[in-house]
Amino acid sequence: MLVRQLFSLVAAFMLFVWSCAKSTEKKSSKPLPDDINVLAALPLTVTAPANNPITDEKVMLGKLLFFDPILSGNKDVACASCHHPNFGFAESLEISIGVNGKGLGEKREFRIPNDIPFVKRNSQTIINTAFNGLTNEVQSSPDAAPMFWDLRAKSLENQSLEPIKTFEEMRGHLYTQAEVLDKILDRIKKNSEYQQLFKAAFGTENAITKENLAKAMATYERTIVANNSRFDQYMRGDNTALSQNEIDGMMLFLKSGCSKCHNGPMFSDFKTHTLGVEDNEKVGFSDDGFQKKYAFRTPTLRNLRFTAPYMHNGKLKTLQNVLEFYEDLSGGQIKNPKVKPRQLDPLIEHLKVNFKDISAIIEFLGTLNDDKFDRSIPTKVPSGLKVGGNI
Ligand code: HEC
Ligand code: HEC
Repeated sequence: MLVRQLFSLVAAFMLFVWSCAKSTEKKSSKPLPDDINVLAALPLTVTAPANNPITDEKVMLGKLLFFDPILSGNKDVACASCHHPNFGFAESLEISIGVNGKGLGEKREFRIPNDIPFVKRNSQTIINTAFNGLTNEVQSSPDAAPMFWDLRAKSLENQSLEPIKTFEEMRGHLYTQAEVLDKILDRIKKNSEYQQLFKAAFGTENAITKENLAKAMATYERTIVANNSRFDQYMRGDNTALSQNEIDGMMLFLKSGCSKCHNGPMFSDFKTHTLGVEDNEKVGFSDDGFQKKYAFRTPTLRNLRFTAPYMHNGKLKTLQNVLEFYEDLSGGQIKNPKVKPRQLDPLIEHLKVNFKDISAIIEFLGTLNDDKFDRSIPTKVPSGLKVGGNI
């Protein structure tokens, strides 16, 4: 009896010693890289809010509105001026030119004379914004989908009226922020083609309202999707969709710590992080982002081929530049002198970028491109103004 008790006491003691050893071993070990399950294919279908189902009539109306400069104070800027299909529904400027701009892509510039500032940030793509907010953790609701580099709008519907109200984007000098939406609605109400189109889309007389304007544009945006990249095909089970080099690149992407923030089907956690990207002198002031913390939302890594330059202010021209930025960051270099080391995002501790891995990671990012999104442009818009604005 005694022997047995003694035995179990010794056994318990040994178990205790072993578990202590194990827990210290755990503490001192390096953080493990993510495995491939933190990444995912995009869904094959888009979910719309319950009160704004997708219909052909709404898509058609939303598309015309998106390309019609009637929405801007001076009738010179359309949504498409900065989100053009030929530029991946983004643009190739570092930061946007809205009111008083002319030209498209790299050629876009201010007309002279000019007293309008640049928009302070790089234009995000519209492609796949239908999936904004979709992460591994939360079932996204399209009513709450986060928008903008600092998450300041929720849902495509709410987002779509913001550029119309913003001075340098679409509003200009003609109207105040308080009156601009009503003035624009008055214009649309006077247009017989829009009267017909709103009626067809919403089924009521007097359908030309702010809410319906927003609903139509959001519905069109929900049709601009690219969810069948070679990466998606691979994740859905086609093992031949990626080359061995690209798979190696994916493993290095995971190993380098990229997926601590760029994860889920959109390669974004839809959270903000402080990385200390340097300011763009063209902005004219220091953009301190979300809650003045120099934090910006993790952008999607899909379709990067079409959306250079990169970062919230377009400061980095190529993916090579971005990867070198991360290599420096993982080596402790902060590019923005206004950002102190203690402000940096704690997840950066997981970042380990070796120069020799950079080209393989870029090769993997190439598998996230899918150029089969709808690039069609209306031949004319109901206002009779120039399609896409002064481009
Ligand atoms: C002058 C250029 C310009 C015009 C015109 C413009 N945008 Fe944008 N758009 C931007 C910029 C810049 C951002 C990022 C702004 C930020 O995050 O602070 C953006 C962001 C967005 C986003 C958020 C995407 C995301 O992933 O969060 C959507 C959606 C969008 N715009 C739709 C529209 C619509 C709809 C219109 C027309 C009503 C429009 N934009 C007009 C430049 C423009
Ligand atoms: C701590 C979170 C975090 C980690 C880790 C991280 N990123 Fe990012 N990434 C971001 C944020 C936030 C931005 C936007 C920063 C800004 O504009 O100020 C960004 C921007 C980017 C962009 C620019 C995309 C665009 O459209 O402008 C690319 C490309 C990118 N990251 C790739 C990577 C790669 C590759 C790795 C791994 C080497 C990585 N990221 C690691 C959060 C992270």
